[in-house]
Amino acid sequence: MGEIRERAYAKLNLSLDVISKLPDGYHELCMVMQSVAMHDELHIRLRDKSQIRLSVNLPFLPCDNRNIAAKAAKAFFEKTGFKGGCDIDIIKNIPVCAGMGGGSADGAAVLRGLNKLFGNPLSHKELLELSFTLGSDLPFCVCGGTALAKGKGEVLTALAPLPHCFIVICKPSFSVSTPVLFSKIDSRNIKYRPDTAGILNCIDKEDLSGICRRMYNVFEEVLPETPKDVSLIKRTLLDCGALGAVMTGTGSAVFGVFDEAEKAEKARLLLLKSYNEVFLTQPQGAISI
Ligand code: C5P
Repeated sequence: MGEIRERAYAKLNLSLDVISKLPDGYHELCMVMQSVAMHDELHIRLRDKSQIRLSVNLPFLPCDNRNIAAKAAKAFFEKTGFKGGCDIDIIKNIPVCAGMGGGSADGAAVLRGLNKLFGNPLSHKELLELSFTLGSDLPFCVCGGTALAKGKGEVLTALAPLPHCFIVICKPSFSVSTPVLFSKIDSRNIKYRPDTAGILNCIDKEDLSGICRRMYNVFEEVLPETPKDVSLIKRTLLDCGALGAVMTGTGSAVFGVFDEAEKAEKARLLLLKSYNEVFLTQPQGAISI
């Protein structure tokens, strides 16, 4: 029986725009996505019994069918028709309910890992299609790197890698419900939108400060009035010399991009005085499938 270790990289939204509400209640999005080196660690072992067993090192996370990693394994066995099951152990490093795609990254890593263990029965396209049945962020998490994501998040265009930089991420203690934040946004009344075309142009030109100046997330407009952590964290990151700072996904994590490690480390240490979950990481390139 085979086994494999797979990394589930966190994602950040360099930009997030909501274009329209779709008839099925979901939203049409336009996002520039970036994976970062910070990752959960997965250990997958195949077993004869057609059972999926999951363990996670955080006691408050479900280990049953509610966990997207278990759902992904079930979907893989159903789709391929392979007999048997697997044990999956997950060590979580990505903050939970942060807008960093932690659950999606775990699900995507299970699909990549199982596909490798069985000798790639699913093509790249099939793997992406299967991943999308499990959640809108999964297709990007399967591929990683830097990408433009459209549709519900599944229409991906790979982009040139982000220029060398340092990223400080801070997750305040409050969390925001993704469906609630989506329900608060009216795509027809969004005051400011990210300059996505400008970001793409700057990525092409390897212009890091141009990218960072244009980072924007429309969900920041519909955050609850209090707590004010998102704007406070952004202010701290910018005061420490970040080229740009923005909330990722539906939050509540906020990140700042720095061109110098020293400035990033100073920001990390300063934020650690007020917040428990503060990390320094770097962009991660696309994952080979
Ligand atoms: O696809 P996923 O299950 O990750 O989406 C979680 C929630 O986010 C959905 O229930 C929906 O409220 C919202 N969503 C949306 N439009 C998208 C993606 C997510 O409205 N394109």
